[in-house]
Amino acid sequence: MLMRLSGLVALVTGAAGGIGRAVAICFAREGAEVIVSDIDEAGTALTLAELEKGGGSGVSMIADVMREEDIISLYRSALERFGRIDIVVNIAGGDCEPASDVEQIDYVKMSANLDLNLKSCMISCREAARVMKQQGSGRIVNMSSLVYRGSPNQFSYSAAKGGIFAFTRSLAMSLGRFGITVNALAPALVEVPAFIKALGEERWETLRKDCAQRYPLGRVATPDDVARCALFLASDDAAFITGQIIEISGGARL
Ligand SMILES: NC(=O)c1ccc[n+]([C@@H]2O[C@H](COP(=O)([O-])OP(=O)(O)OC[C@H]3O[C@@H](n4cnc5c(N)ncnc54)[C@H](O)[C@@H]3O)[C@@H](O)[C@H]2O)c1
Repeated sequence: MLMRLSGLVALVTGAAGGIGRAVAICFAREGAEVIVSDIDEAGTALTLAELEKGGGSGVSMIADVMREEDIISLYRSALERFGRIDIVVNIAGGDCEPASDVEQIDYVKMSANLDLNLKSCMISCREAARVMKQQGSGRIVNMSSLVYRGSPNQFSYSAAKGGIFAFTRSLAMSLGRFGITVNALAPALVEVPAFIKALGEERWETLRKDCAQRYPLGRVATPDDVARCALFLASDDAAFITGQIIEISGGARL
């Protein structure tokens, strides 16, 4: 069977989470050597075990993407181990500030949202660009969210995810001539264990049903929906696509 990422090295951050795990497993299944990175050691080990169970190959590297020095040493370790990095998928993130009225914006939580979602992505891309420019090739996929369009009462998270959109386009403009593509994913609600755990089964079900009703395709996304789109952007099929944000939304907010 033709594997779409055969012989390529892929770095996935947030790889212990719902979406990151699906991406890491999907890429390994397609023949990539996957660097499974997250701050969560146990979750990272689980992802690696699942990926190997499926016949894939990878290594785990623990890094806190809110620390610049961790990102730098993650790239250093990846290069020492593999000598190249062909694909980077920046997935680590999450919403650190519960929805609130604008008057309630909290400086510390707002800063955490920008640090975790936007600044981490920018620094990881900086390190990726250093490597990929030398290689003369590379694929970067960043994790935005459908809230990049704006979301009432989700001010700092939507600003961070909107920032990823603008940054992705800027980077695509500047890295294209080095053979590097840069794109972003913008999922609507994705069913991940972290969400269900945080909300509890009952509130999760209410949210899931409400969204499914509103999305034209009649359901929320699965992590595999997102992983397949990341695979497309990382593969040769997307060789001439850069600076795009792909909404994985079942048609939400058309
Ligand atoms: N689930 C959704 O509905 C949804 C929708 C749109 C976008 N997203 C985005 O997708 C990404 C993945 O989210 P998910 O739904 O899989 O949630 P998740 O909580 O399962 O995954 C997030 C992962 O990021 C890791 N992480 C958190 N802080 C970190 C840090 N400082 N350093 C390194 N890793 C860190 C966590 O350990 C976790 O494994 C996030 O960027 C999120 O904003 C999610």
